Amino acid sequence: MSYEEISMLGEKHLINVYNRLPLLLERGEGTRVWDSEGNEYLDFVAGIAVNSVGHCHPNVVEAVREQAGKLIHCSNLYHIESQAKLAEKISELSFGDKVFFGNSGTEANEAAIKLARRATENNEIIAAEGSFHGRSLGSLSATWKNRYRGPFKPLVPGFSFVKYGDIEELKNRVSGETAAVILEPIQGEGGVNVPPEGYIEAVREVCDDTGTLLIFDEVQTGMGRTGRWFGYQHYDVEPDIISLAKSLGGGFPVGALVARKEVAEAFTPGDHASTFGGNPIACTSALATIKTIEQEGLVERSRELGSYMRNQLKKIGEENSWVYEVRGKGLMIGFETDGKAQEIVDNALEQNVLLNKVSDDVIRFVPPLTVTKKEIDKVVSLIG
Ligand SMILES: Cc1ncc(COP(=O)(O)O)c(C=O)c1O
Repeated sequence: MSYEEISMLGEKHLINVYNRLPLLLERGEGTRVWDSEGNEYLDFVAGIAVNSVGHCHPNVVEAVREQAGKLIHCSNLYHIESQAKLAEKISELSFGDKVFFGNSGTEANEAAIKLARRATENNEIIAAEGSFHGRSLGSLSATWKNRYRGPFKPLVPGFSFVKYGDIEELKNRVSGETAAVILEPIQGEGGVNVPPEGYIEAVREVCDDTGTLLIFDEVQTGMGRTGRWFGYQHYDVEPDIISLAKSLGGGFPVGALVARKEVAEAFTPGDHASTFGGNPIACTSALATIKTIEQEGLVERSRELGSYMRNQLKKIGEENSWVYEVRGKGLMIGFETDGKAQEIVDNALEQNVLLNKVSDDVIRFVPPLTVTKKEIDKVVSLIG
């Protein structure tokens, strides 16, 4: 089918919740994707921070193929080898002892919110202004933007917001009713916002002093994106719970809730479940992705190339007053401009480069962690 036929078919039958670009992607390899006309694009969106090991990495393709030929799905009524192994691997890499698997970021956060309520027997959750935690009603209740929340009120009771970075406001907000504070270690959708120095450590202290759980939403920052395995590892703290998704499965849908043992034990059989959560192919894909990140040193690469890209972008800022700020960690980079985000995205697309904006002002760069310096130079030269 042609692009025109497919886009018309979608317009007729798909519910209209996405603003799609006029592009039909058919194939991907590494940092490159190809459209239905055979045009090649350099992909600095990577499924919005999903394709961390690049498109169709041979390790992931091979692992998924092999698993698909053995067992595509079985219920959590039974034991699943790749699920247990993936939980072990995530525990090794993180603070966590126990893992629950779902299929997406919003589900991971739903599970985190439920676990926090169950473990503390409190109901209130404090989130941050600028946050994004997902679209299901619990996660949406912790999401800041009124455009997303407003049309769906009433939301889940017990959620409130404090200014991201303002420790005094948080201190005043936490009460005997607070179950948890939920934060992104670096805010993604909110504009790639890095918290002020000392803030995350101070949040941990407030939580410790008041018996409040600390949840980090690592859906976007996790799995090496920021130059550490997890965003929280940039700070001198350990959370009680994290949520993961996006790049965890290397492109295959998988989400996870990770918790300290004492917190995780609040859940007992029947408290939570997911039919597809921890599916054999999803977990096999995630294991192959993590192995690839380790083998190819992609966490370090993210740190080094992220720093390189930020420096190159800052040079544009030195010469152009319309650049306000370059920020981020590793290969999660925000480029704040004076209202030029759409123009930059459109111009890049004309030059066969895929970029993503999170607002009228801010471009978010989240390329595969396998990206090369030469590719970064190409993108930077398009902007500057
Ligand atoms: C920090 C964060 N949390 C949660 C989500 C929701 O993830 P999903 O779209 O997989 O439900 C996102 C998605 O962009 C995210 O960036």
